[in-house]
Amino acid sequence: MTVRSYHSSVEALTVIGGSRLSGSVQVTGAKNSVLKLMAASLLAEGTTTITNVPDIVDVEIMSELLRRLDCDVQQEPQSGTVTITVPERPHYRADYDLVRKMRASICVLGPLLSRCGEADVALPGGDNIGSRGLDLHIDGLQRMGAHVVNEHGYLIATAQRLQGANIWLDFPSVGATETLIMAAVRAQGVTVIDNAAREPEIVDICLMLVAMGAHIEGIGTSTISIEGVESLHPVEHRVVPDRIVAGTWAVAAAITGGDITVEGINPEHLRIALDKLHTAGAEVTAADGAFRVTMEGRPKAVDIVTLPYPGFPTDLQPQYIALNSIADGAALVTENLFEARFRFVRELARLGADVRTDGHHALIRGKAALSGAPVEATDIRAGAGLVLAGLVAEGRTEIYGVSHIDRGYAGLTEQLCALGAEVERISV
Ligand code: UD1
Repeated sequence: MTVRSYHSSVEALTVIGGSRLSGSVQVTGAKNSVLKLMAASLLAEGTTTITNVPDIVDVEIMSELLRRLDCDVQQEPQSGTVTITVPERPHYRADYDLVRKMRASICVLGPLLSRCGEADVALPGGDNIGSRGLDLHIDGLQRMGAHVVNEHGYLIATAQRLQGANIWLDFPSVGATETLIMAAVRAQGVTVIDNAAREPEIVDICLMLVAMGAHIEGIGTSTISIEGVESLHPVEHRVVPDRIVAGTWAVAAAITGGDITVEGINPEHLRIALDKLHTAGAEVTAADGAFRVTMEGRPKAVDIVTLPYPGFPTDLQPQYIALNSIADGAALVTENLFEARFRFVRELARLGADVRTDGHHALIRGKAALSGAPVEATDIRAGAGLVLAGLVAEGRTEIYGVSHIDRGYAGLTEQLCALGAEVERISV
């Protein structure tokens, strides 16, 4: 299977602003979980089945990466199922041509090192949102006895058998927590990760690993304790719903003065984000596995501070800046995770938004109206923010860089149209 084109996209989304969105949308599995679950399958010989898989480009890239590691990967986008058959001895080198397309490829580092005693993983590229170091991944693996060097653009990690260790993360990094958990499940002895990340996607990975036979305590807390086992077995696992996609739909309702019910989601995972919409004037009702956002009139400006979970997610920051750009009043948004995430406001300014940035703060003075223009998406969530702004901008907005949006949002155009938006995907 070929990977859909990522670079040099000639496609654009055109949005005619002004429609009020209403109806229901179904959310599928989280991008930020499924990629790691696919990597975790490397930890057990045999066939792992993953369900509720979103039909996004990043899943194709990860499938291709696993095939290069000698796994057999079958994708069934219709049913949202991926099956991965892992050989007794997987290949241990993740090449640059795939890793550069998706930073999340780094998540094969822990499982490969654990299974093969060596992992050669190209240093990743990925989203254009900051420097995104790997020092916490490397420090943690070294504490577990791995030898790690950076040679010719590759991280080369070796360890005959990883040893349990006490690891204190300087920052609750999602990626580092995942790497270290996946390295520790088959290590000799007990590993304790302190100041671990607590995102729902990390809980999801832990639950799959436990089903595979891992011994993990403190799941969902900032202290995770893992007792290594000799071997793990393959399982079937359903991916946790995508809270970021769900949050994007919530903003779509609020920004268009609409009424959207989002199904297939745990509203608890979005508590702060939904509370902010309530502050902005929306009516938010949560039920078991769903929530509904209804908005009348213009939203009020809301301040945002991004933080690791359970704080406000950085992956919803551009969407809330878009909301604030047409809100009544001024809002201060503070970005604490990715310094380059404000790059997208230059594009938003092309639609007439009034946003000033200073370091990791952005001041947004809400305008009564935006006006449609051609803009460029620079990463997945910036793309989502621009689509939302386009939904309320007067006239026609053309969003280029659609390939970024395809990395994280399955069937976005169709879903938007079903909710009443005037959106089209065009080749230019
Ligand atoms: C993951 C998500 C991303 C989300 C982010 C924060 C995936 C595929 N991506 O990214 O969508 O925005 O969590 O919720 O799951 N850092 C270091 N050294 C390290 C690791 C991280 O300095 O070794 C820094 C990064 O530069 C960044 C911050 O820590 O400033 C957060 O990074 P991290 O939590 O690791 O995010 P990712 O796993 O890259």
